[in-house]
Amino acid sequence: MALFSNTFLVLSILSLLACAANGQLSPTFYSRNCPNLQTVVRSVMAQAVQKETRMAASILRLFFHDCFVNGCDGSILLDDTPTFTGEKNAGPNANSARGFEVIDAIKTQVEAACKATVSCADILALAARDGVSLVGGPNWNVLLGRRDARMASQSAANSNLPGPGSSLSTLISMFAAQGLNARDMTALSGAHTIGRARCQFFRNRIFNEANVNASFAALRKQTCPASGGDNNLAPFDIQTPDQFDNAYYQNLVNRKGLLHSDQELFNGGSQDALLS
Ligand code: HEM
Repeated sequence: MALFSNTFLVLSILSLLACAANGQLSPTFYSRNCPNLQTVVRSVMAQAVQKETRMAASILRLFFHDCFVNGCDGSILLDDTPTFTGEKNAGPNANSARGFEVIDAIKTQVEAACKATVSCADILALAARDGVSLVGGPNWNVLLGRRDARMASQSAANSNLPGPGSSLSTLISMFAAQGLNARDMTALSGAHTIGRARCQFFRNRIFNEANVNASFAALRKQTCPASGGDNNLAPFDIQTPDQFDNAYYQNLVNRKGLLHSDQELFNGGSQDALLS
């Protein structure tokens, strides 16, 4: 499907969100001051994904959650302190966003190679790209030169990030608020070809919705009962859960999207034409 090839283009667009207004980004931004940057990031990501394949997904999601809140400025990485409230404990991130320790490990190695040179925002953008490519997805050039935020916004994290029960029109308007159109949104949603979601986010879909494949719902109910097991995980992609491919879109056409918000992209509505 054409959308798969668009996914990486749009991921690159995502990474531009922060910076269009702030000056020039360039793939060679650190080539003089930190020539080994990309080798270091790639090698820590390779170890992390080798240890746990899901980490590719977790880092990709961190990047998305960073970019949708005042741009890709690393703000999601800032810890809460007694005098500072960051984004880590916003609703969409608390007990859910993961992989911070991998970004910390990359940062430590990057600092050892080139002290006080590379932004955490750029490290996250590179790590997300490497995760995708390590699990079979496309590769792309990451434009670099982002500045790290010194501020974060828990309230913007709460209001800008879409939830699993979102309707198509809500999804479209939340992406539009970031300068992304409906086609961009559908391509970016292809990230759900990897990773896991917790039962509490898809229970209502498998028990109560009509636009769901019956055998898919029955399978998911085995580990996501009507009550209890809120944190039990299921893969987004029933076919190739850890491969970055286009099976996510095939699943939607077969009404096997995991989240309500996933299936909204193929529900008799305006986005269907992109997938069929
Ligand atoms: C379209 C609206 C979206 C909604 C409503 C949504 C919602 C969610 C939810 C509820 C989870 C599971 C969280 C949990 O169980 O703790 C999740 C996981 C994930 N999301 Fe999204 N998401 C959306 C778009 C995106 C986009 C645009 C990307 C990246 C470009 C993305 C990447 C991921 C990944 C890779 C995971 C799996 C993370 C892991 O396994 O650790 N999502 N998403």
